[in-house]
Amino acid sequence: MKYPILAGLASALILGACGSSVEMPEPAYEDISAAQSAAGMLQERLQARLMSAMQEGGIEEAITACSEDALVISAEVSAETGLEIGRTSLRVRNPANAPDAWETEQFAVFEEARASGVNQMAMQYSEVVDEEGSHVFRWMKPIFLGDFCATCHGTDISPEVQAAIDAVYADDQATGFEVGDIRGAFTVRRPL
Ligand code: HEC
Repeated sequence: MKYPILAGLASALILGACGSSVEMPEPAYEDISAAQSAAGMLQERLQARLMSAMQEGGIEEAITACSEDALVISAEVSAETGLEIGRTSLRVRNPANAPDAWETEQFAVFEEARASGVNQMAMQYSEVVDEEGSHVFRWMKPIFLGDFCATCHGTDISPEVQAAIDAVYADDQATGFEVGDIRGAFTVRRPL
């Protein structure tokens, strides 16, 4: 099993480096570590909010809670950590979470790494990029679909859940995922 992991990581590194014509600094360890803990914080709070809404009023209530609070919670974690943190996906539910060009590129790298058997826990990518002459730290970590997530993002959505989703998101693209798929990613940005 060692070989595919290494091969996947190598290709992730090579693909990730493409496109930067100027020599850019390496991301700082402090930024990577701060991004990791901010993502952990965001994940915990979103999960807690989802669980309490489920207990209060079931799936429909949970969908309402996600739609009203997910971006608010992301903004809170951003304010507390000084990083811009959010979630993104190639197939979004909320158009406000749509990926930019850099994020779209990283999804291709992650998909390739997943196909070649790279350990999910090891998958994350950081880079210092040039944005109009300024250096910006960027970091991304894929989010995989778990069993529980399939209720609202899977291939077999109940009519009630589908109706609750449709009521809020006219252009939802975020169903049809299989357990283990890359559902999206945590994404962090910090101008340096
Ligand atoms: C109760 C239904 C529900 C469950 C269960 C659920 N989600 Fe979501 N998910 C949503 C809603 C609603 C949004 C849109 C939130 C917003 O408006 O920002 C969303 C958004 C997302 C996004 C952000 C990108 C986008 O599409 O806008 C990701 C990533 C995501 N969910 C992953 C997961 C994962 C992983 C799980 C399981 C741990 C999960 N979700 C469980 C309803 C759900």
